Amino acid sequence: MTKEQAKTRIEELSKELDEHNYRYYVLSKPSISDFEFDKLLEELNKLEKEQPEFLKSTSPTQRVGGQITKEFASVKHKYPMLSLGNTYSDEELKDFDDRVKKGLSDSYEYVCELKFDGVAIGLTYKRGLLMQAVTRGDGEQGDDVTANVKTIRSVPLQLRGNDYPDEFEIRGEIILPRKEFDAINREREELGDALLANPRNAASGTLKMQDSSVVASRNLDCFLYVIMGEKLPFKTHYNNLEEAKKWGFRISEHMKKCKDIHAVLDYIKEWDKKRHTLGFDIDGVVIKINSFEQQKALGFTAKSPRWAISYKFKAEQVSTLLEKITYQVGRTGSITPVANLKPVLLAGTVVKRASLHNADIIEKLDVRLGDTVYVEKGGEIIPKITGVDLSKRPAHSQKTLYCTHCPECNALLVREESEANHFCPNETGCPPQIKGKIEHFVSRKAMNIDSLGGETIAALFEKKLITNVADIYDLKKEDLLPLERMAEKSVNNLLKGIEESKQVSFERLVYGLGIRHVGETTARKLAYAFKNIESLMKSGTEELMDVGDVGEVIAKSIIAHFQNRKNLEIIGRLKNKGLKFELSEQALASKTDKLSNLSFVVSGVFTRFSRDQLKSLIEQNGGKNTGSVSSKTNYLLAGENMGPEKLKKAEKLGVKLITEEEFAKMIGYVL
Ligand code: IVH
Repeated sequence: MTKEQAKTRIEELSKELDEHNYRYYVLSKPSISDFEFDKLLEELNKLEKEQPEFLKSTSPTQRVGGQITKEFASVKHKYPMLSLGNTYSDEELKDFDDRVKKGLSDSYEYVCELKFDGVAIGLTYKRGLLMQAVTRGDGEQGDDVTANVKTIRSVPLQLRGNDYPDEFEIRGEIILPRKEFDAINREREELGDALLANPRNAASGTLKMQDSSVVASRNLDCFLYVIMGEKLPFKTHYNNLEEAKKWGFRISEHMKKCKDIHAVLDYIKEWDKKRHTLGFDIDGVVIKINSFEQQKALGFTAKSPRWAISYKFKAEQVSTLLEKITYQVGRTGSITPVANLKPVLLAGTVVKRASLHNADIIEKLDVRLGDTVYVEKGGEIIPKITGVDLSKRPAHSQKTLYCTHCPECNALLVREESEANHFCPNETGCPPQIKGKIEHFVSRKAMNIDSLGGETIAALFEKKLITNVADIYDLKKEDLLPLERMAEKSVNNLLKGIEESKQVSFERLVYGLGIRHVGETTARKLAYAFKNIESLMKSGTEELMDVGDVGEVIAKSIIAHFQNRKNLEIIGRLKNKGLKFELSEQALASKTDKLSNLSFVVSGVFTRFSRDQLKSLIEQNGGKNTGSVSSKTNYLLAGENMGPEKLKKAEKLGVKLITEEEFAKMIGYVL
């Protein structure tokens, strides 16, 4: 193939693939199979590799990601990204309609849309090309997540046709379809990773991932619902969005014009019922005035437009029979009571179990076996019991007595005064705790032995090959080979992962120990404050509580952990295996007390450092970061465009403002 021919073929293939993407993701009317699509994509990929000068940034091959973003740049929104007022009842909505009526002299029309439960995004297009994708952030400025958004196949990189404005911004919601969410959680469950709470959190987490190829694999989707710019083709919201569909955007087919508030209420009723047929989550309906002129006449309050409002659906509720209460033991020994229900359809799925949280909740609700209970599902995956239908309570029902012994190991349960949950104190002898501790120890943010998944741990535990985290380092090839699905290659991989984990930093090791209440941040602070395991083990309540974040409960739990003989034995064995029980030279060198006892708030955009960098510099130098300005704040580290509220409060309380340069001077950082 000549160069010229390659160029032509690349253009042809790009156009064809774009068209198929559009048919598939925007129109939901694919005309070829996935297999055929992949073959075309492969051909394009190959040609672009052979002739890299013809590779365009808008090529369909660029959807697979690969770009790594270390820090997302902060970008100021051209138009502030406002939120919407909420209504929860027909009455409140009618009040909104009355306000609209009063504000307008002519008749008006509404547009109703689904309220997508995802992450808001603003996309800027210039001359038909996607230039930038920015999250909402604080409404004034957000994060530039363009590399990640480019992997979303329903977001056009290059617009179709040539009838679009030269420059405009289109806003919408990035969502994670239910099917994709379930698949991610299934995989996480297998790996023993904590499950993601709901598709919205998952979408938001995904969008902030550093590796865009991982984002690509998550199959996010994007619906657009607001378009802004100086030269839009139409004078109404509805017509512009319909037009944007032709440029390649995914606009929901459920957007509907409504001539009055009654039609709006019908739309709401319809979607409250049908919302579970959608394949993605919505949490209500958004109602907007259609005409731009009338939108302008109504204007804005400080926070939201007067021409639009959201109607939030109530959490769906059903009632069913409580057949049994069982008790689940978590990694840290925490006990969760679980209601076992007569299966019932709720929010599109069959519910058999619901959390009862703790003994107090059971007591407060006075839930009893044989009761008919109300079950509710909010945005979360685990439904909850919200009440009892007393009219259906059987005669002679007995008050629920909370379990006294661990259902797994029969140890007597304890409940600390300050805590809501009972827990099983048999840390080193209770099977789910042992397995859970090991899973935590090898997890990504701790020792990161990713080839040791939940199933392998369970199998090794069954065979008594590992009963605590130190045993991992005694595993041998001949122990592993007989296990199911463990071929030579995976065994070698696993052993390599174990060996490499010995180099993991002290702070992650402290986290990996799985001390109750010690999360990633506290572990880091402890590591930096005590520098090695000996001084951490020796420290008393007061010394521990000097570390920011550590209160009495955490301090007690740390002390108890190191008083346990078995834990000490494990630490001794890990030390002998060469794990890092002290801060590295490098970490030690960068740690100072220059900012000890000083509390900072970091706000705004900076030129020399990122906000996260500043925060870690504050911690490394012994200072404390807090989110909001209070009388305890010593310094407000102020960048450009910082929130006006923070500034006002700082001025009122006399909190000193410093620049990034002044801050650098304080810690002796040479710029
Ligand atoms: S319009 C100025 N339309 O809901 C009006 N928002 O609570 C801007 N949302 O921040 C928003 N679906 O993230 C609009 N069809 C829809 C929406 C929608 C979901 C989100 C959006 C917004 C939030 C407001």
